[in-house]
Amino acid sequence: MSSQPEKIRRNTVPQIANRKGGEPIISLTSYHAHTAAIVDKYADFILVGDSLGMVMHGMDSTVGVPLDLMIMHGKAVVRGTQKALIVVDMPFGTYEESPNVAFRNAAKIMKETSCGAIKLEGGARMAETVKFLTERGIPVMAHIGLTPQSSHVMGGFKTQGRDEDTWAAHIADAHAVTDAGAFAVVLEGMVEPLASKITKEIAIPTIGIGASADCDGQILVLEDMLGMNPWTPKFVKVYGQLGPMIEDSVKRYAAEVKDRSFPSEDEVYR
Ligand code: KIV
Repeated sequence: MSSQPEKIRRNTVPQIANRKGGEPIISLTSYHAHTAAIVDKYADFILVGDSLGMVMHGMDSTVGVPLDLMIMHGKAVVRGTQKALIVVDMPFGTYEESPNVAFRNAAKIMKETSCGAIKLEGGARMAETVKFLTERGIPVMAHIGLTPQSSHVMGGFKTQGRDEDTWAAHIADAHAVTDAGAFAVVLEGMVEPLASKITKEIAIPTIGIGASADCDGQILVLEDMLGMNPWTPKFVKVYGQLGPMIEDSVKRYAAEVKDRSFPSEDEVYR
C-alpha cells in the first residue's frame, strides 16, 4: 500500500487572528512564484504588496499600480506557495470610492488569485468599507500610520506620530478597523511608543513595519531586506547583499561572453 504524502494546509485568517499576544507573526512581501516558494517555508503570511509598483516596475509611488498587475503577481505567489496565508493589496483607486466598488474589486482579486485575504489602507475613514467587506466574506487586513497610497496628501513618506498631539487620531484609526472586523492591522512608519500603545490596546494582531518590536508580528519588503535597493530606510535590517551579488554575477558573465570562455566544454552538447 503506497502512503500519500500529507497535504500541507494553508494558514487561515482565524489562525493569524488568534496569534494576538502570542508567538510573533512572521511575514514578508513577495511578488513572484520563485521567491514566494522560499518565503513560504518561514512566513505565516505573505503580502503581495502594491510596493511591487516601485520595487519591480520602477514607479515613483504606489499610486499608479493597476488592479490587473496585483492580480497577475497575486496568482504567481499563490501558485508558488502551499503554507502561508496570501494577502493581496488593493491598489489605489480600487476601493476608496464606495463599499460597493471595494467589494467588486476585492471579490475579483480573491476569485482570480485564490488568495486568502486582501489589505487596504486607511483607518476610521475606511471602517464602513472594512465592515461591508468582512460581512460579505472578504477578510480584510487594514493598514494605518504611514499609508503610502496617500503620500501626496501626507507630503511624502513621513514617519507618523512624532507630535504626540496626533496620537489620538492614529489610536482611533486602530480601534475603528478593529471594531469594523479587520483580522489584523499593519502599523507602518510610526514612532515606537505609539505602535506599542496601539498593540496593547486593540484586540487584533498588529503587524509592524518601521513600528515597534512589541507588535504582534513584523513585515518587511523582501527586496529591501535582501539588499537589492541602493537606498535602505532606517527601519530595514539588511540580511543579505543580493544587489552586489547579482551585479558581480552579471559582470563575470559579460566578461566571459566577451572573451569566449562561456560557454565552455561543460556547457555545450557534443
Ligand atoms: O505594499 C507593501 O509592500 C506594504 C508593506 C510595506 C506593508 O504595504
